[in-house]
Amino acid sequence: MLPGRDIISMMDLSREGIEEVVDLAGELEDERSGRLEGKLVALLFYEPSTRTRLSFEAASKMLGAETISIDSKEASSMAKGETLADTVRVVEGYCDLIVLRHPAEGSARMAAEFSGVPLINAGDGSNEHPTQTLLDLYTIWKWRGGLDGLTVTVAGDLRYGRTVHSLARALALFEDVTLTTVSPDNLRLPEDLVGQLDGLEVREGDDLEGAVESAEVLYLTRIQRERFADPEEYRKVAGSYRVMPELLEGRDLVLMHPLPRVDEISPEVDDMPQGRYFEQSANGVAVRKALLSLLLEDGDG
Ligand code: CP
Repeated sequence: MLPGRDIISMMDLSREGIEEVVDLAGELEDERSGRLEGKLVALLFYEPSTRTRLSFEAASKMLGAETISIDSKEASSMAKGETLADTVRVVEGYCDLIVLRHPAEGSARMAAEFSGVPLINAGDGSNEHPTQTLLDLYTIWKWRGGLDGLTVTVAGDLRYGRTVHSLARALALFEDVTLTTVSPDNLRLPEDLVGQLDGLEVREGDDLEGAVESAEVLYLTRIQRERFADPEEYRKVAGSYRVMPELLEGRDLVLMHPLPRVDEISPEVDDMPQGRYFEQSANGVAVRKALLSLLLEDGDG
């Protein structure tokens, strides 16, 4: 279903496409093979990353592919004024697939138009981060066996947090899912996005304690300091939510976070059975192995 395609937004994937990735991720968890031998993956990262960049690199190498990379604007010819479009036109001639992280919303969609090889959006500003969502869904799937009927509370910076934008779009593809949102008033889920979530029941609020009462998954996000034009506006909302052990004790829920965290989850929570964010992060390798395999299938990249 996926060979040769770009993965820019969760809108590019159907429920069946998500299930295909999740199923293959399960099969490839422990695989180290030459399945992608002869393939070359270009990692173009113009924003900081630990998990996404390294798990794409690990997934490529575990399946026998090689990687080339740019780690910052300053270390590339963009520092001399080269455009992203020209960079992509050049790099597509060196590789079979491009993974791009860039601070501008819409940059991945634009870049894909200049690329003759599949392009994966590894985060475009505040817009979307679809491969994070695929690993989030895989994590829930492993624990729960499916997504229909799920109740999720997302909390934190829902305005600038690209992971929750992709997650909300994905959850709308499943049956009877309820999404409760908790955020400071000025960091709510964008209205235009909420308007696109047909089939998903969305309940908006600002009370974290009340919202976890019925949640199976509490998905917390960092306040995205780097997206605020005015540092004073960031200071007003910094530290809005902090999960302490008392919030989770005795509750049958799973706490997830795309990471990195700043102060929104107390380290005391890390060893509680509800805290699944490091396991979630580890699942990124299996999911990216699956995605790379599906996109590079048939040997013609
Ligand atoms: N979750 C995530 O995208 O982490 P990185 O920014 O470290 O890649």
